[in-house]
Amino acid sequence: MGDTLYERLGEKPGITVLVDRIIDLHLQNPVVGPRFQHADVDRGRAMAKEFFVAGSGGPEPYTGRSMPEAHRGMNISEEEFLAVVDDMMAAMDQLGYDQRERDEVLAIAYSLKGDIIRQ
Ligand code: HEM
Repeated sequence: MGDTLYERLGEKPGITVLVDRIIDLHLQNPVVGPRFQHADVDRGRAMAKEFFVAGSGGPEPYTGRSMPEAHRGMNISEEEFLAVVDDMMAAMDQLGYDQRERDEVLAIAYSLKGDIIRQ
């Protein structure tokens, strides 16, 4: 496999499957599922795919809102943030990604914490 995280995630087809799995887990997760009841989940899936593509070194830009803008007014807690990150790691585990890729996604996700919680 190539060396960018984008390539190692399986490029767009891999990221599409991964993001769909992550969001399916969020919807079933009692800690964060209720947050998505009134959200536009189709847009969320599309934007999260773009975000993963752009954030992992892929060729296409992210056209969605900034992380503070997207989560403003939600007052997301640390517990909710951790639940979302746990779903990302569970999805990667289920789909057979290696530790290296899991660690890189974890580091990127964690780096966004201050832009997402308590906005
Ligand atoms: C690293 C963690 C996270 C990332 C990378 C992330 C990423 C995103 C992205 C890309 C969007 C779409 C923005 C747009 O529509 O322009 C979004 C929307 C959303 N996120 Fe997050 N998010 C994270 C954590 C969370 C957490 C912890 C929650 C709450 C429990 C959450 C709840 C939502 C909701 C409800 C929306 C839809 C908002 C709306 O429809 O207006 N996110 N997120």
